[in-house]
Amino acid sequence: MPARILTIAQQKGGAGKTTVAAQLAAAWSATGKRVAVMDTDQQASLADWFDLRGDGDGSDSLQLSKISGWRVSTEVDKLRSAFDIVIIDCPPHAETDAKIAIRAADLVLIPVQPSPMDVWATRGTLELAAGEKVPALIVLNRVPYRGRVLDEVKRMAAEEKMPVAKATIGNRVAFAATMMAGSSVVETARRSVAADEVRSLAKEVGRKLGV
Ligand SMILES: Nc1ncnc2c1ncn2[C@@H]1O[C@H](COP(=O)(O)OP(=O)(O)OP(=O)(O)O)[C@@H](O)[C@H]1O
Ligand SMILES: [Mg+2]
Repeated sequence: MPARILTIAQQKGGAGKTTVAAQLAAAWSATGKRVAVMDTDQQASLADWFDLRGDGDGSDSLQLSKISGWRVSTEVDKLRSAFDIVIIDCPPHAETDAKIAIRAADLVLIPVQPSPMDVWATRGTLELAAGEKVPALIVLNRVPYRGRVLDEVKRMAAEEKMPVAKATIGNRVAFAATMMAGSSVVETARRSVAADEVRSLAKEVGRKLGV
């Protein structure tokens, strides 16, 4: 089966696109899926993470392409036959680049931090996905253990009929710490709540993608 394409987009900066891309890539790779990650951001944080991995998990089931602009769609076509999943990490504030990456996708995953401003800022990315007729899914990221704000944000999203994943990602030091080490929570903290969260998200998104 040709690869399924997951684009991770959010016009708001710092929402967790690169973190979610890396952690999901490692989680799928750990279950034996062949995963390609594409860094389309000039900041190249995902490429930095990948470089830090060295040999990574010892397999070559995880590969990186650093590419942007119109070349994204030809690169996706190239990767389609050799991988199960292609994950495209988008830059913030770059509508044209995001559009190209969204157009190539089977699903757009949109990390959103639980604050009203972040929910409002998500409308633009949802509109881009709708414009390209690609389904979208919001994942709440940096979620606090509990609190009124989280409930309020969920209510706001429901009111705007935004599609929100059941799985959420908590605000945990382990995410930044593993990124810094070129690793991931499923590799270095397998039994942690953080790893459970990423595996749940991988399962939920995987079902939507059909992988
Ligand atoms: N779940 C989390 N828990 C703790 N820290 C997080 C979490 N997700 C992201 N971060 C931290 O938030 C910051 C921004 O994350 P990240 O770089 O993944 O966002 P981004 O959307 O890719 O940003 P940009 O728009 O600049 O590309 C980083 O310092 C990262 O370590
Ligand atoms: Mg990023």
